[in-house]
Amino acid sequence: MGKCIGVLTAGGDSPGLNAAIRAIGKSALNAYNMQAIGFRDGFRGLMENRTVHLEGEILSGILTLGGTILGTSRDKPHKMPVGSKVQDMTEVMLDNYHRHNLEALICIGGGGTQKNAYRLAQAGMNVLTLPKTIDNDVAMTDITFGFDTALSIATDAIDRLHSTAHSHHRIIVVEIMGHNTGWLGLGAGVASGADVILIPEIPYDVNQVAEAIRRRRHRGKNFSIVAVSEGALSQEDAKELAQLKEKKLATKDEKKQKKVIAALEAFQTNHTTNTLRLSGQLEALTGLESRVTILGHLQRGGTPTATDRILATRLGAACVAAIEERRFGCMVAVKGESTELVDLADVVGKRKVVPLDHPWIRAALETGACLGNNLAV
Ligand code: F6P
Repeated sequence: MGKCIGVLTAGGDSPGLNAAIRAIGKSALNAYNMQAIGFRDGFRGLMENRTVHLEGEILSGILTLGGTILGTSRDKPHKMPVGSKVQDMTEVMLDNYHRHNLEALICIGGGGTQKNAYRLAQAGMNVLTLPKTIDNDVAMTDITFGFDTALSIATDAIDRLHSTAHSHHRIIVVEIMGHNTGWLGLGAGVASGADVILIPEIPYDVNQVAEAIRRRRHRGKNFSIVAVSEGALSQEDAKELAQLKEKKLATKDEKKQKKVIAALEAFQTNHTTNTLRLSGQLEALTGLESRVTILGHLQRGGTPTATDRILATRLGAACVAAIEERRFGCMVAVKGESTELVDLADVVGKRKVVPLDHPWIRAALETGACLGNNLAV
């Protein structure tokens, strides 16, 4: 048997992970006579040397499965909690990498995983990554796998909310995942014809949202669908967040900085509170009854779409081809119908946000959606 490659999946799970694992295992064996092993539960499996051979039955029947057969975790391997302290596990992972005499390690994940993988590359491992996340926010790639499936699920959900909102003459505020970017919210909003679409890239004015709903009412439309990305902020909250970020940079005192960081973290996790507040405000400002639907983890579960299966399969196969060519320290990025190897140094620490001149924004405005700000066509 030839060379051995390692694979792990890290961060939030995403439809298409099993398709990628299958593609890596099968193309390694079929095309290059390599063997593949998987590490369980993300970087934790590499720390604890928990592995599974990726061959035969284990790769069979998984193309259509959601989740990841390897398991995943959101561990930061350079900062693992040990009692009240944190420990850098890089050396332990390096030992296990050598123990299996790995030719390369493939890390499949989103922005955080790209960062962790880059650290391992700097520590001396031959690392390659694949971009996956339902948020579609990884820099330097056209798209990430998992996004298309989540987009279909969110769109279908909003389609269903339309008929009940219409029947009851209600506002329905639907919260969509996406972390701090609006790809999923905007995409699902446009695809389902949401009346209001609020995304993190465009801080909103609740009065403008209410005005848009009132205008619809005057036209005889007694219901409205408000698609809100979990990371969307009101203009006031966006201002406060910017001030906190400045404060974090300016504060030297460790205790004070901890407080600022805690306040910043609260901003990341407060989305449901914000969504509920928005619904209450709209009820008060428009006189219409409002309900909230949080789509949550439904958007990440279940069978990947054909588009995600194809994308994950071609990325997995391209990654093994790159190993054969001994190209390391890169992410296998999507560029149109092709793939491209991008230096991990150019990927980490960046986030792909929705540009304000993106065609989806223009399409939303031109078809009459309110984006919560005075943006005009
Ligand atoms: O990154 C994917 C994602 O689903 C985000 O959209 C969301 O903010 C986050 O993960 C939720 O994470 P968890 O599953 O850890 O609650």
